[in-house]
Formats: sequence, C-alpha cells, structure tokens
Amino acid sequence: MKRLCVAGLLLCAGSLFAVGARAQDQADLAKAGFKIYDNNCAQCHGDRLVGSGITFDLRRLKADERPRFENSVLNGKNQMPPWRNVLKPADLDAIWAYIRANANE
Ligand code: HEC
Repeated sequence: MKRLCVAGLLLCAGSLFAVGARAQDQADLAKAGFKIYDNNCAQCHGDRLVGSGITFDLRRLKADERPRFENSVLNGKNQMPPWRNVLKPADLDAIWAYIRANANE
C-alpha cells in the first residue's frame, strides 16, 4: 500500500493536486521514511534523528542539500557504509521527507 502511494505520487507529480492532498502525501512519505530511518540509520544517527553529538545531525541538512544527502548516503562517508545496493530511490525520497519534516530550518 505504501509502495502504491509512492508510485502514485510520482505518476501525479506533473499534474495539479489539491493542496491538502499534497500535504497528506508528504505526511505519508515522511511516515514511511521514519520506518526506513529507524531500521537503517537510527543506530548511528539517533532515535528520531536526535543524535548523541558524535555522528552528523541530519536535522542540520538544509532544503537545498538533497544532492549532498543523496551522494553521502549512496556512496557512504568515512565511518558510514554506502547504501547504494541496500536502499531504493523511493526509500531515499521517504527518508528525505522524514528529515525535512523534522529539520531545524
Ligand atoms: C554505522 C553507522 C551509520 C549508519 C548506520 C548510518 N550512518 Fe550516516 N553517518 C555516519 C557517520 C559516522 C557520519 C559522519 C561522516 C563524516 O563526515 O565523517 C554520517 C554522515 C551522514 C550524512 C552526512 C554526510 C555529509 O554530507 O557530511 C548523511 C546525510 C547521513 N549520514 C545519512 C544517513 C542515512 C540516511 C542513514 C540510513 C540509511 C545513515 N546515515 C546510516 C554513520 C552512520
């Protein structure tokens, strides 16, 4: 069902959406992102994005830093393993929506 929602979101990206529906889709995406984050990232980046101060605080990523996010996650960085063969593009969309929904600014 979640996958269907993500596919539907992509298909409809070019068409006009009611503002409320779009906000709901973003909320659903962020919810899916929370689960993926919790399963794969939380052990290093902290429960609900609240880190210990040792690893990078993902809430510091700015709205225009999606390319940086994607590059670091796919290719890994220092102690962080690469996720290229683990996560699908739709998973990254969901994690990004989750991070943006909780970002500092
Ligand atoms: C094994 C521990 C570990 C796991 C699991 C992990 N990370 Fe990281 N991550 C790190 C560390 C350590 C850094 C800091 C790397 C550095 O700059 O030296 C980091 C940095 C990052 C950065 C910032 C890199 C930059 O551009 O400076 C992003 C974005 C990131 N992680 C996303 C994720 C996401 C999304 C997941 C889950 C899919 C994840 N990480 C899982 C350890 C981890």
